[in-house]
Parts: sequence; structure tokens; C-alpha cells
Amino acid sequence: MATHDNQATHKMFNDANFTKGYAESAEKMTGHFAGLLIKQSKLEEAPDDKDLIVLDQACGTGIVSEHLVKALNKKQKDNLDLTCADFSDSMIDFVSPRIRHLEVKSAQAIKADAMDTQLPSNKFTHVLLNFGPMIFSDWKVGMAETHRILQPGGTLGMSSWMKMGWPDDVRNAFATDPEIPPLPSMEELCALVNSGGGWSDVAWIRDSVTQSGFVEVDVREVSHTSILSGVDQFTRMMTGMVGLVQQRTWTAEQRERYKDRAMNAVVSYMKQKYGDGEIRWDWVAILTTAKKA
Ligand SMILES: C[S@@+](CC[C@H](N)C(=O)[O-])C[C@H]1O[C@@H](n2cnc3c(N)ncnc32)[C@H](O)[C@@H]1O
Repeated sequence: MATHDNQATHKMFNDANFTKGYAESAEKMTGHFAGLLIKQSKLEEAPDDKDLIVLDQACGTGIVSEHLVKALNKKQKDNLDLTCADFSDSMIDFVSPRIRHLEVKSAQAIKADAMDTQLPSNKFTHVLLNFGPMIFSDWKVGMAETHRILQPGGTLGMSSWMKMGWPDDVRNAFATDPEIPPLPSMEELCALVNSGGGWSDVAWIRDSVTQSGFVEVDVREVSHTSILSGVDQFTRMMTGMVGLVQQRTWTAEQRERYKDRAMNAVVSYMKQKYGDGEIRWDWVAILTTAKKA
């Protein structure tokens, strides 16, 4: 299975335009699942007098934190000490003002690598990692680090993809220009995104999370149909998704040669297929919650 180059991934995520595009479109999709993940993590059921020390790990633009604050009652928010962490400066620059005015006990955004956060051991009551554990270039190291920073009895909530919505359209679009390297199959794409972990496989997740020292592992498949307003919104989202595939499967020369051409092929295919109408895609995510023993 594919592993990934942390530096190249960092370059893609650490880009102000990418971050802006993510906030304008991708987070709407990840946010839907974030709401469900928060429910499955039982955060809303926390007693009113319990300290909630929550890490929104790989927070991106902060959509998980926004859903979290909406899900909690006033007393729970008064007990919430929220940390948003990401290794991308541009994500942290975006999320810092976003969380500044949240009505919670405290909220901070920090730059940290999820593989080695430098955060204290046994600190958090909850770690949320929404799309997700695939960022770990070595999943065992990433899971061990996540386990280390959780309190005993603390809850991990994370999500990953089983089926993504965009590949069928993008594959058909690439095929309109036979010189563009073809888009891999859904299975191969999930393997690429998953960076060497089996994060699209329910049984693998259950075993690996258990092996990493967690108990009460609850793994669920959830489907969702997303609606994008039109091709403009799609274009903003597409840069990141297709960029990741190009970065992990194309040579530098292919990127130089076909990047713009592939983008143009996709935009014209999408315009032809959807015109001014909405774009509907079906996604399947895997939501995993577990506790540190
Ligand atoms: C797919 S986004 C998910 C963002 C957010 N959790 C959401 O649900 O929309 C992945 C995020 O992980 C961050 N990331 C990737 N590798 C990382 C690492 N090793 N350490 C910390 N953050 C990382 C990226 O900068 C990006 O913001």
C-alpha cells in the first residue's frame, strides 16, 4: 500500500488558497460527518459538571470545533477547554480568528504535527480526528501518539473514507483526453489517501485500533449524499482532492505537463454534464469511536 511524503503533503495543505477553498466547499462535506462523529463520541451526553478537554486534531479550517460548540449546552461550553491543532500554518491562521469568539471556557489554536504533538501525556478527555487518521504517515506511530495524549477513559473519535463522491466524474473527465494519466480505481484511491493504513476497511480499523491500546471500539459505516451548488463550488474543492492524487501518483514531469490540462478537462466535463445545476455525489464514511483503557 502507498505511504506518503509528509513534506509534500504539508506543502499542499499549507497554502492560503487551498485553505480558503477548503473553507468554501470541502468543510461542508466533512462537517456533516463531524456532527455525526460528535454524537457517536457522546460529547453531548457529558454531565454538566465534567471538564471537557477536547483536541480537534488536524483541525483544518475548524469545522469540527464549530459543530462541537453547536452541539453542547451552555454549562458544557462553560467547561470546554478546546485546542485546535494542525501542522499547516495557513490552516492555523484561518482557524485562530474563527475560534476566538466561541463562548467556551478557553480555545486555542496551535501548530502541531499529529505524529509528534509535543502535547502533555494524559491531557485530553476527547480527541477528535475527522478525516482523519489517514494523515498518519506511519499509522502505528500516529495512533500511539493519540493514545498517549488522551486521559485514561478518554474518548477518541475519528473518521475515514470508504467511498468518495468525486472520483467517478473526475475519472470520466480525465478519459476525455487520452493523454492524461487515467484516474486510479476507487479502491486504489482509498489506498492512496490512506497512507498505508487500512482506513477504508471496518475490520482492519477495529483490529488496529484495539491493537493500539483502545477498548470499546465502535466502527460504523455512514452514507451521505452531498449537494454542491454548481461547478464553481466544485472547482474550489477539486484542487485539493485531485492535487493529492497527482502528487502521489504522477511524476514531476507529468504534473508539469498535465496538471492544467487535467483541470480544464474536468471543468469542461462537469459543465457539460451538470450545466448550471447542482452536483450530487454519494459518499460513505467510517466513523470510529474508542476509549483509552
Ligand atoms: C482532510 S483535512 C481534515 C480537516 C478537518 N478535520 C475536517 O474535518 O474538515 C486534513 C487536515 O490534516 C492536516 N494534516 C495533515 N497531516 C498532518 C499532520 N501530520 N499533523 C497535523 N495535521 C496534519 C492538514 O493540514 C489538513 O488541515
